[in-house]
Amino acid sequence: MSKAELHIDGKIIELPVIEGSEGERAINIENLRAETGLITLDPGYANTGSCESSITFINGEEGILHHRGYSIESLADNCSFLEVSYLLVKGHLPNAAELEAFTDSILGHTMLHEDLRLFFRALPKDAHPMAACSAMVSALATFYPDSLDPRNEREVEISIHRLLAKLPTIAAYAYKHSVGQPFMYPDNSLSYVGNFLHLMFANPCEDFEVDPVVEKAIDLLLILHADHEQNCSASTVRLVGSSHANLFAAVSAGINALWGPRHGGANQEVIEMLGAIADEGLTGKQFVDRAKSRDDTSRLMGFGHRVYKNFDPRARIIKKATFDVLERLGVNSRLLEIAVELEELALKDEYFVERNLYPNVDFYSGVIYTAIGTPENMFTPNFAIGRLPGWIAQWLEMHEHRHKIGRPRQIYTGETNRKIQPIAER
Ligand code: CMC
Repeated sequence: MSKAELHIDGKIIELPVIEGSEGERAINIENLRAETGLITLDPGYANTGSCESSITFINGEEGILHHRGYSIESLADNCSFLEVSYLLVKGHLPNAAELEAFTDSILGHTMLHEDLRLFFRALPKDAHPMAACSAMVSALATFYPDSLDPRNEREVEISIHRLLAKLPTIAAYAYKHSVGQPFMYPDNSLSYVGNFLHLMFANPCEDFEVDPVVEKAIDLLLILHADHEQNCSASTVRLVGSSHANLFAAVSAGINALWGPRHGGANQEVIEMLGAIADEGLTGKQFVDRAKSRDDTSRLMGFGHRVYKNFDPRARIIKKATFDVLERLGVNSRLLEIAVELEELALKDEYFVERNLYPNVDFYSGVIYTAIGTPENMFTPNFAIGRLPGWIAQWLEMHEHRHKIGRPRQIYTGETNRKIQPIAER
């Protein structure tokens, strides 16, 4: 094993260098403070590995994404979302019998407890569905107090199946509540995605048929969002889980982290940006100039990534799927035209080139969601449904490995040794 040397205060400290299965290297500083009294400072954790993991590999320089050793392109071409979920959670692709048992179990848990359905009534109509999703997932812990022990394998398994089954129902009810429509009960004869579409768009007064083009498109989008190693929400799930909080609590925290516009909330922001450009009659160039300006806080939403300094491979797949789906549905999209124009301008612009800013997963996803009739405030809940198996896999892996409670340190920069003045003298 190679070692790095740290020369500090006249001493030389040897630090082990570890190497991952794809050749990534890291300096292990686990014993640094014990040996030197020093800590490392890394705002935003841009250089910090928080764990070793065998779930997802990303090479951001080359635009590569693998789950459990399979490329995202091959998973998107060959698997369903539930197969990919199984792969992430269990570590291997299911055989036919395993997939059938997994699917049956999940479809068997799609219904919510009637009292949980009533919870939605207490929410304001304009509540964002992400807030509703996080609240309801947290509330699941109140309905299943007997299966919250993170160290009990059977309890964990049932919580995993409940979560995968119920999050689409919760998300659809959040939407139904926002538009004042009756909640539908799940139809377990439908596929996982077909059932989600039924819960979102069916109503008791009319027949509803799942459109296979839409069903396939959503399944693909869920696959593309299924995991992304130690991003903000996955790290949140791990951090909360590290205190041995139950799975529902950790996932609810992950949903909140995902909601932010620099993370999953960007998909809604992209479509709002494209809509505003269309409404205000701006040219692509005017908006790109705005995103570059230091005097304007606008960013080109859907561009840039902490890890990808090249094309996000998910963006390539979504862009192609967007054109396919629009053609199959016979839809012309002004928003797609604007997105293509912005992408072309940004990829040639020195500002974006210098900073390695490329389209990310969120850049085209809003256009495809819009084309298949998904309301804007449901884009990020769709992301959450897709990311759920990843969060679960990260939470499980953390519990399988030796782990400490997550607890970063800091460098204190405040006042020192102050004396309290009597209140009359302050
Ligand atoms: N538009 C304009 N400028 C940008 C953008 C953008 N989209 N992204 C980064 N920059 C600039 C930023 O101003 C900074 O410039 P300077 O060095 O002159 O100060 C430089 O590029 C580096 O940016 P950063 O914020 O330090 O980079 P980061 O790695 O911390 O942030 C990011 C990554 C995704 C938060 C950021 O690129 C961003 O805000 N993008 C827009 C939001 C977005 O699309 N988020 C979705 C991410 S992918 C899906 C997901 O994770 O959920």
